[in-house]
Amino acid sequence: MPGFGNLHSTEALPGALPVGRNSPQRAPYGLYAEQLSGTAFTAPRHQNHRSWLYRMRPSAGHQPFRPYATPSLLRSGPFTERTPSPNRLRWNPLELPKEPTDFIDGLISHVGNGDVAAGIGCGIHMFAANNSMGDRAFFNADGEMVILPQEGRLRIVTEFGILRAGPLEMILIPRGVRFRVELLDAGARGYVCENYGAPFRLPELGPIGSNGLANARDFEAPVAAYEDIERSYEIVQKFMGALWTTMADHSPFDVVAWHGNLAPVRYDLRRFNTMGTVSYDHPDPSIFTVLTSPSDTPGTANVDFVIFPPRWMVAEDTFRPPWFHRNVMSEYMGLIRGEYDAKSGGFVPGGASLHNCMSAHGPDVESHGKAVSAALAPTKIDEMMAFMFESRFPFAPTAWAMETPLLQADYDACWAGFPKAQLEPRS
Ligand SMILES: [Fe+2]
Repeated sequence: MPGFGNLHSTEALPGALPVGRNSPQRAPYGLYAEQLSGTAFTAPRHQNHRSWLYRMRPSAGHQPFRPYATPSLLRSGPFTERTPSPNRLRWNPLELPKEPTDFIDGLISHVGNGDVAAGIGCGIHMFAANNSMGDRAFFNADGEMVILPQEGRLRIVTEFGILRAGPLEMILIPRGVRFRVELLDAGARGYVCENYGAPFRLPELGPIGSNGLANARDFEAPVAAYEDIERSYEIVQKFMGALWTTMADHSPFDVVAWHGNLAPVRYDLRRFNTMGTVSYDHPDPSIFTVLTSPSDTPGTANVDFVIFPPRWMVAEDTFRPPWFHRNVMSEYMGLIRGEYDAKSGGFVPGGASLHNCMSAHGPDVESHGKAVSAALAPTKIDEMMAFMFESRFPFAPTAWAMETPLLQADYDACWAGFPKAQLEPRS
């Protein structure tokens, strides 16, 4: 992946990977060579990513796609169902479905921005599922997908091999890669960022140096693994905001070997090398950036993926939780586990909040009171993992997000009742 610095080469059968050329006249075992490009052919070398897949059949072998008939709450940019709201919004977690529901049908769009046709912005979805996908594969022609399990473990079968992930881990599926989500527990729930823009990459490190934050070596790609299954197989794709489906007569997970720098990856959020102050004040939360999707304005992301991991707090004479702020960027937050240090209650694991461009927010009254009276000995924020998808484009909620009873009616109360500062009389 660009910025990840990883080149991969893997084969599930000895000698399956051609050596010295990408598309020999006859590939080993009679495999078919197929290139999957994640960037334009002529993208700069350091941003160019593609892989060569050697498979039992070309992925072109399928019937025409037709509209997917199952009702879906998946939405796509432009998000026009409801007027974008300047209000601060917060939601309770999704409940697990009662009817059999897999990952595809369990996706519910929460907020989004940009335009999928223009290749800008992103969609933020949640998922709740109680069924594996069975003989179904999914791929997304509209964008790459960051999947953050919050409850339940997933086994994700991809064309490139198999990835397992649970809470505190992240999966990144590049645009177009076919995958199947299996549940390893009774249910699974989590968050998805569907990025329509430039592919996620590691942020520049500047004066931090050559190590730190998320390290490239910790993004784990799968080893090649294939299925030799000949039976009817459904392939669902998202294209230009709509779901489409088709049938093949075999499993599409028949890649025996592959090489390149485009691959699905897993990243364990616990491996994040967290930076912070050792004197006073706060660095900006950009210090917690795991991945960034840049826009055409330097330093102003299409969308950033940011985490707030366990860390020591040692700043002297400092209000240690996040301070009050109003930002040009728009912030969608979620909580994987624990209690976020700027909110006491209300923002619970599996829930979410939205603070759009220039909306005033920060600690609630109770958290503020604790922070200004706390003894500032070194303390560790432990057992907590919050995250943020932060974008230069304000997020618009979907109709579902504004009408669900999960939307909290009293979120503004967090900031009611702050006592007025008592000014010293002028002498
Ligand atoms: Fe914020």
